Amino acid sequence: MEEDLGLEVESQTQTVGPFQRDYFDWPEEELARRFVEQVSAGRLKQDGTFVDLKLKQRKSLTKRVHDVYKDTVNLPSLLKMLPGLPTDPTPMDYLHSVRNFMSDNKGADLFHWWKNLRDGVKTPLFGSADILNACNLKCVHCYWWTTREPTAGELSPEQWRTIIQNSFKKLRVANVTVVGGEPMLRKNVVQVFSEELKNRMSVVTNGTHKLVPINGLYYISIDGTEETHNHIRGPNTHAKIKQNVKNFVETGGRVNLNMTLNTLNYKTVMDVIHEWDGIAGRMSVQFHTPFIEDDPLWLPFGEERNKTIDSIIEYGEKENKRFVINPKEHLELMRGNWGYKCPNWVIFALDYRGNIKMPCCMGSANENSLQPKCDKCGIAPYSGVLAGLFPHEKALAM
Ligand SMILES: C[S@@+](CC[C@H](N)C(=O)[O-])C[C@H]1O[C@@H](n2cnc3c(N)ncnc32)[C@H](O)[C@@H]1O
Ligand code: SF4
Ligand code: SF4
Repeated sequence: MEEDLGLEVESQTQTVGPFQRDYFDWPEEELARRFVEQVSAGRLKQDGTFVDLKLKQRKSLTKRVHDVYKDTVNLPSLLKMLPGLPTDPTPMDYLHSVRNFMSDNKGADLFHWWKNLRDGVKTPLFGSADILNACNLKCVHCYWWTTREPTAGELSPEQWRTIIQNSFKKLRVANVTVVGGEPMLRKNVVQVFSEELKNRMSVVTNGTHKLVPINGLYYISIDGTEETHNHIRGPNTHAKIKQNVKNFVETGGRVNLNMTLNTLNYKTVMDVIHEWDGIAGRMSVQFHTPFIEDDPLWLPFGEERNKTIDSIIEYGEKENKRFVINPKEHLELMRGNWGYKCPNWVIFALDYRGNIKMPCCMGSANENSLQPKCDKCGIAPYSGVLAGLFPHEKALAM
């Protein structure tokens, strides 16, 4: 039991009245189309400079032939989005990753999203689910506290199973991230995701709870070296997660880390990388996204931010090219405002009641909530997809 860090028990699930979602009745294409419309409308309201992505236009036969050729060349770049693939994959890594994916899933799904991308059809490729609206920590930087009240009315594990089948599986997304609040407070729901989405799910957790085997990947949030991490996340959290990660790794488990860089912790990022390289499998970074003007935690574009990015890239080039997950082109995007071109339609994000969140997984289903500032956005998954979809120069120039 984790007395000092809060609950280690399933949070209370309440009966929430008739459980029904419109999207259960819509066919796949309809669901994808309505989702894209909904999240795009949310962003249009907030940011007039929203630029629509045009993946590809096929006009003439010559162009079509050319596109097919480019697709073949670009396939490795698309496959980079498969779960668990290293930064710099060898052909064997691709085969391994595709084999893993196919062993539990239909190959048709893989080709479904590849084809959609190729054809420029906007459709979600990933999913995210807040399986509860509560947490045992209160981290200083967390958007969760700015947008949500801890409320009751969570869905039961079997309700989540229904949602998975009627949304994520219907959309045939490649991977679903289970978040919250703190998802490990509801291990039975995590279990349902693990059963339903083998090899295509991951859990983002604060790591203060024991890690149990799942058919997917854990991402543990780390926010600095011990003192800084504890300052942001609370007393003893660093030691606790280190022990939990070590215990899990010793039993053959695999754990990745995720660090959110802000003004309190960016100077510690290289120490964090050195500290964990060898303990955790790999580590991704993202920058803090503000929800208010003049958020003191937001690291402004410019010299300090660039130096931080340079040192992370240098680590990949000179020391260990496999540890940091973000490819170079992805880190390059984080130097400035990429939010106006954010492909927010790629992640189908649901809140703790199964409602669609807008404009993205950091947002809220409630239109009146505070929204993330797109022009200062530092969140990794969306910029990662953008960088993964296009060659470096094109992603930056768009
Ligand atoms: C909201 S938490 C939920 C999962 C879990 N409780 C955890 O801490 O990992 C998911 C991730 O979002 C990050 N995060 C929180 N606030 C953020 C913000 N304003 N900008 C970018 N990332 C943020 C957290 O550090 C964490 O890695
Ligand atoms: S970052 Fe995660 S652990 Fe921290 S308060 Fe937010 S939801 Fe809880
Ligand atoms: S990921 Fe960032 S840029 Fe995209 S919608 Fe969310 S806040 Fe805006």
